[in-house]
This record gives sequence, structure tokens and C-alpha cells, in this order.
Amino acid sequence: MELFENCTVGKVRMRNRIIRSATHDGLADPVTEGITDELIRKYVFLAKNEVGCIIQGYAIVSPEGRSNYPRCLAFFNPDNADGFKRLTAAVHAEGAAIVAQIAHCGRQTSGKAIGMKKIAPTAKRHLLYPDKAREMTKEDILRVENDFVTAVARAKEYGYDGVQLHLAHGYLLHDFISENGNKRKDEYGGSLEKRMRIIKEILEKAREKVGDFPIWVKLSATDKRSKGMRIEYAVKIAKLLEEYGVDAIEVSCGSVQDGMNTMRSKRFPMDAIFAYREPLASMPRTLNRAVLAMAKLFNPLIPQPKPLGLYNVPAAYALKEQVSTDLIVVGGITDVADMKKLIADGIKAVSMCRPFICEPNFAKKLKSGEATKSRCIMCNCCGLVIEKEPTRCLMGKVKYPLDKR
Ligand SMILES: Cc1cc2nc3c(=O)[nH]c(=O)nc-3n(C[C@H](O)[C@H](O)[C@H](O)COP(=O)(O)O)c2cc1C
Ligand code: SF4
Repeated sequence: MELFENCTVGKVRMRNRIIRSATHDGLADPVTEGITDELIRKYVFLAKNEVGCIIQGYAIVSPEGRSNYPRCLAFFNPDNADGFKRLTAAVHAEGAAIVAQIAHCGRQTSGKAIGMKKIAPTAKRHLLYPDKAREMTKEDILRVENDFVTAVARAKEYGYDGVQLHLAHGYLLHDFISENGNKRKDEYGGSLEKRMRIIKEILEKAREKVGDFPIWVKLSATDKRSKGMRIEYAVKIAKLLEEYGVDAIEVSCGSVQDGMNTMRSKRFPMDAIFAYREPLASMPRTLNRAVLAMAKLFNPLIPQPKPLGLYNVPAAYALKEQVSTDLIVVGGITDVADMKKLIADGIKAVSMCRPFICEPNFAKKLKSGEATKSRCIMCNCCGLVIEKEPTRCLMGKVKYPLDKR
């Protein structure tokens, strides 16, 4: 297999094996939560510049699953259908495939953002979103299943090439499959098969509606939670996903509670945290600056997950030994030589997020030979900007919004 060749990954036809990993773009219409011209322009630019497939930033399946981030896409308002259809047609016209990631934030949001009490498989507190969630009833579970199924059907109707269920990064479905997030004693918890039951039921019901429409998942194969995700456990999950007929697994890691694990960097982006994360961002300016100065002194002492590059590759290779489902790997992939090696080793596609925030024309540069490596310095400022503004690359230089006040 080659990096640049026409191929089929998880039943989706692509012109090469380079994927823009799901990235919350912060460009949804603030009122309708649907598509805007800004988002279409952004995706058309990626498509014109040779990306094989764009996985759209997560779209939420129901109002209670909303994100804390502003301008997040939603898939539950049928009035937005025309916008989504315009987007998929525009991307296809430039030769790229587009897959819709669908998600429910579970307890990784705030009651304030969703206007009601949060729900989760188990009523655990979240380190960063401390308002307590309510434990889901059986009715809640069946409702969420139907919301996902409706979203899968919409993805097909809107012209996407496939859909990706977000089972990663601490969101609701990750919580269900993790022993850390799911302490239920009923038929949706207590054993691996029971923790996976919600996924199985979503897939069964979705297949009845959409036939063989490509359904992918994104899986955190590891995280830092006690009794959370680990490679041996992820292998068992992958075997079940294969049995349930999932077409591709994108191997990722982490939960938002792990800090900078999903997207790794040498240091916490302290300037960006103090500029964009509440309640720090709203502190009086002098206090904010003083606490930031202290935090920066301690920052080098705060341990960060390692390695910084290719960090989901061992998990992806472990899964490859045990399942025949198409595998995609994401996380710290920056160098074309590594990409080619992964593909030669049987990984079906490589997926990248920050490299495309930094250089939206990265795939074209790789294809032409203009670049062999991403210019992204992995400062992770883009991961904090999204708390208030559309996603963009700051290259380590935080333009302090407090200066504007
Ligand atoms: C600004 C930003 C937004 C992200 N949004 C999403 C998202 O909507 N869905 C998702 O599954 N992952 C999201 N991620 C995680 C990335 O898809 C990816 O898994 C992670 O950044 C590691 O890949 P990288 O090293 O290529 O950046 C986001 C990451 C960043 C930095
Ligand atoms: S802000 Fe730019 S350089 Fe820093 S991690 Fe994000 S994309 Fe990379």
C-alpha cells in the first residue's frame, strides 16, 4: 500500500490515505448550530489541497449532549439539512471524501451550557466540569441510542461518505465502555459485553436504517484513568466492534480529564490556559497575570505524557494483530517517512489534526515534496482557543484577550 494512491478505507473511497482528523472548528452558526459559509470555505480549502478525507468536527446528536465549546455543530435540527448538503457537495467537488463525526458530550460539558442536568452512565464528578451528572435511566439510554441512529441516518441523507461514532476522549460513549466511567449494575454495565451493549444496539438499529453505509468509530485505546482504557482491553473492544460490523477504527487516546494526553506537548500551554479557560480568563487582569507568572515557574515541573510523537501507534499495531477491521491512527504524526512506514505496515490511513490547523495545505505540500514534516510546534494553544473562539493556530504566541479589555 502507498500513501498517495486511490484506495478504500473503511468502505470510503479516498484519493490518498491522509485524513484530517475530527477537529472542532468553532464555525457553526451560533443560532442554528448548522453550517456557515466560513466552514464551507475552510473545508473546500482543505479539499482543494489534496486531503484524502475530512472528518468533520464533532456534531452533537441531541440538545442534552451539547458541548461547552461555542459554535459547535449539531445534527439534531432537521432545518439545517440544506447547509450540510451544501457542505458535502462542495467538498466532493474538490475530490475529497467527508465523514461526519457524531457525539454526545455526556458529563464532559456543563449544565449551564446545555440548560439541564448532565447525564452519564454513572453519576461521577468530572475534574474539569464539576457540576454533577445524573445517572441515566434505561429510558435515557434508549433515547440516546435513537438520537445516534437518527444522526447516522442524517449523515447518509446529507451526502457524507460515512459517519464516525465518537467513542473517545471521555465523551458519553467512552464513559459507557470504560470501567472507570461505567459502574452500572444493570444490563448496560458490569461486564465488557454489557458496557458495550449501547454501542451494539446503536449499530444494530443504525444498520436497519442505513444498510452498508460506512460506520467508523474513534476509540481511545488508552487513557490515564484508573480502570480506564488500556491496550489489552481495547483489543477486546475492537474484536467486538469487528463482530458488530464497524467499518474502521481510528485509534486515539485519552480523556479530557487526562490533561494534554490526546494531543501531547512538552508543557501545558499556560499562557493560553490563563487567556482562554474560565474562571481564570475572567479574573481581574493584574491577578490573572500574577497567578500566571507563578504557574509558569512551576510549569516545567508538571509531568506530561510521553512520548510526544506517534503515541497511538503501539495500540494500533496491537489491534492490527487481532482484528481485520480497517485501522486508522492519529496522534503526533508529523513526518512523511513515518506516514509511509505506517501504511507499509498495514495501517489503512493516517489521521492528523494539529498539522492541518497549522498548515491547511499540508497534504498538498507532502504530495508535491515541498514539505516532508509538519511545521506545527505542538504548543497546544489551538486546544485552548476553542474555549472562546474559532480554532486557529497561534504558533505558541498567545495574543492576550485581556489586553483588549
Ligand atoms: C483544536 C482541536 C479540536 C479538536 N476537536 C476534536 C473533535 O471534534 N473530535 C475529536 O475526536 N477529536 C478532536 N480533537 C483531537 C484530534 O482529532 C486528535 O485526535 C488529536 O489532536 C491528536 O492528533 P494530532 O497530534 O494530529 O493533533 C481536537 C484537537 C484539537 C487540537
Ligand atoms: S497552535 Fe499551531 S503550532 Fe501550536 S499546536 Fe496548534 S496547530 Fe500546532
